[in-house]
Amino acid sequence: MKAIYPGSFDPVTNGHLDIIERAANLFDELVVAVAPNIDKKALFTVEERLEMLREVCKEIPNVTVDSFTGLLVRYAAEQNASVIIKGLRALSDFEFEFEMALMNRRLDSGIETVFMMTNAEYSYLSSSIVKEVASFGGSVSGLVPKVVEERLISKFSIRS
Ligand code: PNS
Repeated sequence: MKAIYPGSFDPVTNGHLDIIERAANLFDELVVAVAPNIDKKALFTVEERLEMLREVCKEIPNVTVDSFTGLLVRYAAEQNASVIIKGLRALSDFEFEFEMALMNRRLDSGIETVFMMTNAEYSYLSSSIVKEVASFGGSVSGLVPKVVEERLISKFSIRS
C-alpha cells in the first residue's frame, strides 16, 4: 500500500523524520510531499526543502520525496496512493487536522487519512519554533537533522 506524507517541511525537523521512519515501516511505499502552505511565509524555497528531505531520507529505501501544488487528494490519486499520513503532536493540532481530514474525505472518499502520534520527545517541536530559535542564534542541535542545522545557520548568517 502506498501512502503520502504531505507538509510544508520548512524545514524538516526530527519530529517529521520520526514520523517518516515509522510510516515507512507501515507502508510499502511512502511519498514525502512538499506543498506550499498558502497561510505561511516560507523561509526555504520548495527546491531547498526537497534537497534537505532527499538528504535525510536517502537511507530509507521505500521513501521518495516530491512536491505538489493544488489539492492534496488530487495529487494522492495521481500517485495511486490510498492513504494520507498526518503527524499529531498535541491536542492543539487536532481541530485543524480533523477539519482537513473530513474535507479531504468529502473530496475523495477513497483516500483515508491516518494520524500518527508524534514521539513524546518531539511533541513541542515545530518548524516555526525551530526557525525562530535559529533566527536569534539559538542552538537547534538535536531538534533537526545536521544538514538542516547547517542550512539554518547559513540562511540566518547571510540575512544578518
Ligand atoms: O506542514 P503543514 O503546513 O501543516 O502542511 C499543510 C498541508 C500542506 C498538508 C495542507 O495545507 C495541504 O494539504 N495543502 C494542499 C492543498 C489542499 O489540498 N488543501 C485542502 C486540504 S483540506
